[in-house]
Amino acid sequence: MPDNDYFEIQGGVPLRGSVTISGSKNAALPILCACVLAEDKCRIDNLPYIEDIQRILEILSQLGAGITDLGGGSIEIDPTTIDRYVVTAEMASRLRASYYMLGALLGRYGTAEINQPGGCAIGQRPMDFHIKGMRALGAEVVERGALISAKADRLIGADIYFDIASVGATINIMFAACRAEGRTVINNAAREPHVVDVANFLNTMGANIRGAGTDIIRIQGREHLHGCNYAVIPDQIEAGTYMIAAAATRGDVILNNVIPTHLESLSAKLIECGVEVITGDNGNDFYMEVRTDKRPEGVTIKTMPYPGFPTDLQQPMTSMLTTANGTSVITENLFESRFNHVAELNRMGADINIYGRNANINGVEKIYGTDVKTTDLRAGAAMIIAALMAEGTTRIHNLHYIDRGYERIEEKLRALGANIKRVSEE
Ligand code: EPZ
Repeated sequence: MPDNDYFEIQGGVPLRGSVTISGSKNAALPILCACVLAEDKCRIDNLPYIEDIQRILEILSQLGAGITDLGGGSIEIDPTTIDRYVVTAEMASRLRASYYMLGALLGRYGTAEINQPGGCAIGQRPMDFHIKGMRALGAEVVERGALISAKADRLIGADIYFDIASVGATINIMFAACRAEGRTVINNAAREPHVVDVANFLNTMGANIRGAGTDIIRIQGREHLHGCNYAVIPDQIEAGTYMIAAAATRGDVILNNVIPTHLESLSAKLIECGVEVITGDNGNDFYMEVRTDKRPEGVTIKTMPYPGFPTDLQQPMTSMLTTANGTSVITENLFESRFNHVAELNRMGADINIYGRNANINGVEKIYGTDVKTTDLRAGAAMIIAALMAEGTTRIHNLHYIDRGYERIEEKLRALGANIKRVSEE
């Protein structure tokens, strides 16, 4: 999409109807990288059609893998033709999750060179846990500026402890440990649904991983991993975004292709706000319904690793709480600067003050449409929700951030009654 596109949204319309949730971005990206570990082809289904997936496929292709688009969100990856083991600075600049190639290439070929993607709008995002884990497995890891080179004639299983339950480091170490000799134990592992999905994919390839979803993951290394077919789980954060949008617009939305247990912390918080959240099973699929016709009550939210409140939903929730009754406080415990959306919300008439890791939100009667920019993917979701709630017209710029992680968002919102269109500047 051209960089100067913008969304034009007329606010004040309650979202009503049903939406189908796409495959999980944060599961699909590492799963596509994990295909490198296989010794023959993999077919991955339920991939979301988003920019980040296209970028990781480009990187796989540049490393020599065969990519066949089977249509309908299915891709076949042939890793047997990979003949490069370097993720260049240019590749890394296009996609942070390119860092998963460190564990995948090291695990499969005993060599990997990646450029650290570096910080972004939400924080520094270092890779020290990734590097510590690779060294614990016996790799020789050399850092030269942003460049990380890792080599290992053989990887040996080890006991690894993470200071913070890091999603990326947990997954990256799982990749390398899958092909290490002996047993690896990851302590204080991340428990997110996408970590479990990656572990299930690896086990479908013949890996031996136990405990994913708990804070202790045990991996028995395997000499060979084979290709397989696998379907990615629904996107927890996309689902949460639509749940919040339904509540923020005082609407009534049914979400299909969703896993309610992945959203328990958000559901509990929405119920605390006075929103109705209903979970059901229509025979072959779970669904969730979110509805309300009144102002939400202000609440306190602290972001935590799963199963705590997801940091990726903190920004969309901030938008909803701008017009809640009373004062809300959001504490961002995962990233040191994930409040860049606040200035834009205040320009719309919100009353939010930042004190370190806390955002104090004093509920106002209304927020008003204006021209706003977005600084990262979930800030983009926050601006869309604010625009849907606002009185008047809002134009949201920098859509490339939103296109990275939300499949066909304007189509899905229009189907729910939203007055939204994508406009090109020309
Ligand atoms: C993943 O990022 C997600 N990205 C993020 O989603 C998400 O916000 C984050 O997990 C937390 O859930 C993908 O899955 C592609 P972390 P990741 O390692 O793996 C610190 C989105 O919007 N840390 O769990 O990079 C780190 O700085 C994106 O979809 C270290 O200090 O997150 C952060 O403070 C945004 N050293 C905390 O841990 C390390 O070596 C959690 O980061 C690694 C992490």
